[in-house]
Amino acid sequence: MAATGGTKNLSAEMKEAAAKAAQESGVVQTALDIVQLYKGDKVATWEIIKKLGEGRGGFGAVYLVKDANGKIAGEYALKAEKASETTRVLKMEVYVLMELKKSNAKHFCDILDRGRANGYNFVVMTLVGPSFDEKVETNLMNLRKTASPDKAKQKFSLGCALSIGICVVDAIEELHGIGYLHRDIKPGNFAIGKSDPRRIIMLDFGMARKYIDSQGKVRVPRWAAGFRGTVRYAPLSCHISRDHCRKDDLESFLYMQVRVVEIELTKGSLPWKHLESRDEIGQLKEKCRGESIKLLMGGCPKEYVTILDYIDNICYYHTPDYNLIRQHFKTALQINNLNEYPYDWENQPHQLNN
Ligand SMILES: Nc1ncnc2c1ncn2[C@@H]1O[C@H](COP(=O)(O)OP(=O)(O)O)[C@@H](O)[C@H]1O
Ligand SMILES: [Mg+2]
Repeated sequence: MAATGGTKNLSAEMKEAAAKAAQESGVVQTALDIVQLYKGDKVATWEIIKKLGEGRGGFGAVYLVKDANGKIAGEYALKAEKASETTRVLKMEVYVLMELKKSNAKHFCDILDRGRANGYNFVVMTLVGPSFDEKVETNLMNLRKTASPDKAKQKFSLGCALSIGICVVDAIEELHGIGYLHRDIKPGNFAIGKSDPRRIIMLDFGMARKYIDSQGKVRVPRWAAGFRGTVRYAPLSCHISRDHCRKDDLESFLYMQVRVVEIELTKGSLPWKHLESRDEIGQLKEKCRGESIKLLMGGCPKEYVTILDYIDNICYYHTPDYNLIRQHFKTALQINNLNEYPYDWENQPHQLNN
């Protein structure tokens, strides 16, 4: 069956514009070919209902799909890349999701189908997010934006923020447990479970990399590693071309906590938000370690500072103490007299909108 119905061939200018958008959004991008599918198009037996989201400045896209033959009930998410693509981001995605499934990990989508059809590589997975209403998108960042119609109140409560943190550390530990680094930890790559709004789901393994060898030993770092991921959330080591390791995923996670997990007293934004130069961003991240820690952590629970300090002091080969980090979040909950549940979106039915 053709996957070509509304598929457009994009001109060089459009690709250039998309690359520019990717650059502006802080995403470092290799030139992936843009996938454009439209309602009614088919990829193998999957029929496109609508686009759910896209990252990387419009190169990769995720679509809501159903089984065109009506044999498999329900709706799913399909992620596709052009088969002509040399970077093969999806291959890694499929492999990592399959390994996670084998290990019974909790914080990830299940794969239903994968393959190549009509010029596309694709993977079909379970849906995340409780709603696909036009106004209610599925990742954590969008969820935060819909917390209230009032812009000033578009933030998670401290309790919810800390509880998200506990789950995200869990998810990172599960991924590291199967021998992979994520290398693009950021709010847009997390969502809530569709059937269980208390489940935080990690998405997007396009930049994942295996950090252990066939004997289960941590691979020796490369002399120099190209910049990967999103500049805004990139760990310091990425700014100096060091190979990514487990602690780096946790460093990005902490930047994400400061950003997504906006609380009353903080600005809810990272101090390098307005900077564009990668070097300047790296320098400001360095500066935020010393006397200027307040720039980054001002208003956050003091446990954030303790965690950053812990992460900064572990080395490339070290297995992070994920439990210790979770414990700091739990301590912050206790000190502030807060509970882990319910999450904010459980109290705000307009966000769930099922
Ligand atoms: N399983 C899914 N169910 C629903 N929406 C999804 C799913 N996977 C991804 N999305 C949406 O698509 C967006 C982009 O997906 P992602 O896997 O991060 O791809 P990209 O490589 O393009 O960043 C996500 O931020 C999310 O909003
Ligand atoms: Mg993404």
